[in-house]
Amino acid sequence: MAHRRGVSVPAGGRHVLVGVTGGIAAYKVASLVSMLVKAGDDVTVAMTRAATEFVGVATFESLSGRRVYLDPWTPLDDPTSQHIAIANAIDVCLIAPCSMNSLAKFATGQADDAVSLLVASIDRNRVPVVLAPSMNAVMLAQPATERNMAILRSDGFTVIEPDTGWQACRTEGCGRLPEPEYLAEAIATAVLPN
Ligand SMILES: Cc1cc2nc3c(=O)[nH]c(=O)nc-3n(C[C@H](O)[C@H](O)[C@H](O)COP(=O)(O)O)c2cc1C
Repeated sequence: MAHRRGVSVPAGGRHVLVGVTGGIAAYKVASLVSMLVKAGDDVTVAMTRAATEFVGVATFESLSGRRVYLDPWTPLDDPTSQHIAIANAIDVCLIAPCSMNSLAKFATGQADDAVSLLVASIDRNRVPVVLAPSMNAVMLAQPATERNMAILRSDGFTVIEPDTGWQACRTEGCGRLPEPEYLAEAIATAVLPN
């Protein structure tokens, strides 16, 4: 399904949290952040430690114009818990790429890194959370992954279907992160009034 083209550009004016976890497709999310900022959104980026192996913090700080949230334990001048402040300030959250590992954490309510702590701190009655799983086709087909995606959908998360096509492991398969334009559209849809 590598077909997701021709979708509209995001509207802007929202505060978007983009959580980046440890997947090879993290590079695509740099384009997404740039696109959202250009459209007038405020964008805060949070990254897991594994995510920083794929794209540098400086890339997201430059593109978003904001500090990247990396570590809940970094002392700040402002004693307010940063994860609470971010969770309260945002209008929508996208986790992309969402690794198999982070998917499992969200499905089981774990909160032991910057991204999972933020997801756990979001009041999802107010703020929609969109997950974009991306991984090798074998990881995607694992019963645990399928189970976790089903749990997260029934818990009210929006879980985007990955695309099929060429994967970093040099085979064709399902698990690709959809293109930034499609992710921007998913954000726009998530914040539409019901
Ligand atoms: C080179 C490389 C590429 C990887 N790509 C992916 C990927 O695309 N999707 C995925 O779910 N895990 C991938 N992983 C595994 C995750 O990075 C690993 O499970 C990590 O612990 C995820 O941590 P996080 O969920 O805290 O970001 C990859 C690992 C390596 C070494």
